[in-house]
Amino acid sequence: MKNRRNFLKNSALLATGLAVSAPLLAKSESVNSKSPDFPGIIFTQKEQGRWEGKAGSHVPVVTVKGNMLTMQTFHPMTEEHYIVRHTVVDKNGKLLGAKTFHPTDVRAISTIELPNGFHGKLYATSFCNKHDFWLKEFSV
Ligand SMILES: [Fe+2]
Repeated sequence: MKNRRNFLKNSALLATGLAVSAPLLAKSESVNSKSPDFPGIIFTQKEQGRWEGKAGSHVPVVTVKGNMLTMQTFHPMTEEHYIVRHTVVDKNGKLLGAKTFHPTDVRAISTIELPNGFHGKLYATSFCNKHDFWLKEFSV
């Protein structure tokens, strides 16, 4: 149980650290849209790397209604294989919301409230315990 807690804690810290670095990735992606700065570490719809074919169940799907943002990763949630954490970060690296999941959660879905009148670029991240760190860049 202690190892499991440590794994979750370390995974959450890794996900947060990578999410904070997302703005750097976005800048470089605009220069070279073919490959992210962190190949093999950060995966996207376009750059699935060693997890080719896994984007559909790992890239978070984002919907925004008013100032409520919902993100869902359409991924199984089992004790052995599940989504560990979601984050939403703005272009300045500010964490706007995060949710850590437990394998007993039925779905990897999270909702955050955006600042009133927010418009701009955001980064949604989803971390799988087996298929690593996935990023979706979008604008509101
Ligand atoms: Fe996975």
